[in-house]
Formats: sequence, structure tokens, C-alpha cells
Amino acid sequence: MSNPLRIGVAGLGTVGTALVNLLDNKRAELIERCGRETVVTAVTARSQRTNRDCDISNAQWFDNPVDLATSDNIDVYVELMGGDEGVAADSVRAALNAGKHVVTANKALLAKHGVEFAKLAEENGTLLNFEAAVAGGIPIIKTMRESLTSNNVIRVYGIMNGTCNYMLTRMEEEGLSFEDCLQQAQELGYAEADPTFDVGGHDTMHKLALLTSLAFGTEIAVDEIYLEGITKITPEDIEAAKDLGYSIKLLGVTQKTDTGIEQRVHPTMVPLAAPIAQIGGVTNAVVVEADVVGELMMTGPGAGGDATASAVAGDIADIAKSRPGHQHVPSLGKPAVSLTPYVKSRMRTHRGGYFIRLNLNDKAGSFAAIASRMAEQDISLESIVQRREANSQNSDSQPVIMITHDTTEEAISAALKAINSDGHLKGDPQMIRIEKLGFDI
Ligand code: HSE
Repeated sequence: MSNPLRIGVAGLGTVGTALVNLLDNKRAELIERCGRETVVTAVTARSQRTNRDCDISNAQWFDNPVDLATSDNIDVYVELMGGDEGVAADSVRAALNAGKHVVTANKALLAKHGVEFAKLAEENGTLLNFEAAVAGGIPIIKTMRESLTSNNVIRVYGIMNGTCNYMLTRMEEEGLSFEDCLQQAQELGYAEADPTFDVGGHDTMHKLALLTSLAFGTEIAVDEIYLEGITKITPEDIEAAKDLGYSIKLLGVTQKTDTGIEQRVHPTMVPLAAPIAQIGGVTNAVVVEADVVGELMMTGPGAGGDATASAVAGDIADIAKSRPGHQHVPSLGKPAVSLTPYVKSRMRTHRGGYFIRLNLNDKAGSFAAIASRMAEQDISLESIVQRREANSQNSDSQPVIMITHDTTEEAISAALKAINSDGHLKGDPQMIRIEKLGFDI
């Protein structure tokens, strides 16, 4: 049997602890499947004194992740600390330069430095694996990097943040407000103490940036992603969407257009009958549309210790099975030096249907003014509903909900700007994009 594969783990939080336990509990299976042992020989974390629910008594302790990353005592550096700069970036860079394989779950780090690190890995003949960085336990990276090589990808979209999906599901099922939902998600430990990265859409944005590179063979372009989180979604939007046959999901979408690649993260209306509308709670789902295979959908746990550790262990097992001197699968699906520059398709040219919710002053002519502003931009309406809500009998404003046929973002923005400046509205208009999905195109 080959020598054991020696693993250094940086970060012993939920995922790091679950990984150490997983490698212990599945030791026999991993030896049988990889042909060698996988052993945690070194660890580092914020404090050595913390009581942890895993056995690290045989692992060498390091105070400094960079020292661990370059130690002669490891073959693989597993980075589970998080952060897109600082010690996470320094230690991964150092590990690759020292000829170590790297496994990481850190999407923020890779969204920023992924191309640099992929090049370093290839120059040093090592592997950089990151299955756990996108959609937790779902093996979407390997699928896109390896299994779909003969396909031209057309579009990838998905629910990639469990916290947001949990919140939107609760809002839909129980009519809760965003604030109440967030508080409950935090109490249940789904949302971080600082939930900005989840609810603001940044976490989905980092994941989408990686999928775009794998899908289209381009350099990672996280700064070019259109971003809108779920903080402005109200129970009224969710209820109106449901009445009209839609569910609201935070989607990350990347697609080829005539002018380049469109990357966007925003609350999205999907038909209630669509498979992705059925994905509730913390579950994630990713759909790939490609010219040869057609449509693939993968669903599963997008977060949590065991699910994420499962993906990390799969990456470690791939390294254990790889043979020294043989060429490795490039981290981003093709050699990093041949990734093409990213060409952005501008959001203003985005085409699709739109859901608009306005509070209209209850005066003669208001409704007609809205309709004419939409007509000026050549926007055709699929439906328009004006309804007085039960608790607003004496209100001097009326909620109006419109669904448009396909139009452009530019036209919608211009129409809403004109409507706003006409002075017929109470408050700001709400606009949610409708995604046309494979099954209803
Ligand atoms: N915080 C993420 C989520 C998991 O809620 O899905 C890690 O990316």
C-alpha cells in the first residue's frame, strides 16, 4: 500500500470538526477506496484551548496557518478558515508554492484569487480542489469541471444560499416578515450573527463567480456580477407572487447572451410548478442547461458540517487516488493560462418579464398615467391587478400589481423612473425579475 496521505487542517469550526470525525469514522472505507490511508497529521485553529468534539490528540498543533501550510509533515493543506485575504490567502499561496495539494471550501477566497491559485497549482503540479465551496454537499464542481467537458453550457442557475431559501420559504408558508424570519434563522443557527453576506446575496455571488468560470471557460469575474439581496422582499410581494402562480427565490444566474456573459444574483420569480420552486428550507439546487446533455438539476444540502465535510473528503480522496507524475485535472476545468477574458453582458440589456408592485395615489388618472408610461417604453403588460387590501379600506392609496411580457431592464428602469417622477406613487415601486425556465420557454 502507498504511504498515507498526510493532511493538515486549518480551521476547526463546524466543518473542520466534522471533517476530522469523518476521516476517523470512515477510515476503513477510505483506505479500501483510495488504496491508502488519509491521516490528519497537523491542525491549526484560533485557539488550542477550545474544547472540540473531535480527536486531534495525534495531530501536530500549529499556531500559524502559513507554517502548517508549508510543513514537511503534510501533503495536503485543507483551508477551512474563511476570509478572502489575510491568513487564508497567504497560507493557500504558501502551500501551493511549497508543492502541497490544497482543498478549500472558501468561495470568497477563490472568487478573488481563484485564477492565480489555479495557475500556481498547475505550475507546481499539485491539485487545488474546492467542491465544498459551492452548494455544500452537492457535487456540482466536479460535474461541471469533468463530466460536462463535451457540452457547451447555455445557462446555469440555482439556489445556492440555504439561509435565504429558508427565510423565503418561511415567509411564503407562514406570512412572516423578513425581520421575524431572520431572527428565527439566527436562533436556529442557520444565519450568521452578521447575516449580511447571506441576505445581501454576497455568498451566492461568490459561488456564482466560480460556476461561471467552469461553465464558460472564462476568468473569474466576481466584480462584474449584478447583485441584489433579499432584504427588500415583503410578505406582500410573496403573497402577490403566489396569487399569480409564482414563488420568489434568491437565484444566482449565469448565461450566454449575444453580447457576452450575464451574471446576476437577485430575488427571482419562478413559476410555482417549476422544479426549482419546490426547493424549500435550507436545501440548495443547481440547474445546468447544456447543448448535449440538456437540463440537469442537482439538489441537496448546501451547508452544515457533515454535508460540507462530505465534499471536502471527496476532494481529499481524489488527491489520495491521484498518481504522482501524472497530469491532474485543471482546477477550473481547463488549463488556467487558457481561460478566456470575461466579456460582460450589461444588465440593462437583460431581457425577461417583470413583476411590479406600486402603491398608487387613489386619484383619477393615476392608473392611466402608469399605463401610458409603460406604453412609452414599448412594454406590454401580461396582467395588471388593482386591489384594495382588507385592512386598507380608508387608505388613500391602492396597491397595483403588474406582470410584463418580455422586455429589457433598460425599458423597465426608464418606465419606473418616469412613473416615480410623475408623483402618482406612495413609496418606492417594487420590481422583481421573472425567470423564464426550461420547462416554460
Ligand atoms: N451560509 C451559507 C448558506 C453556507 O446559508 O447557505 C455557506 O456558504
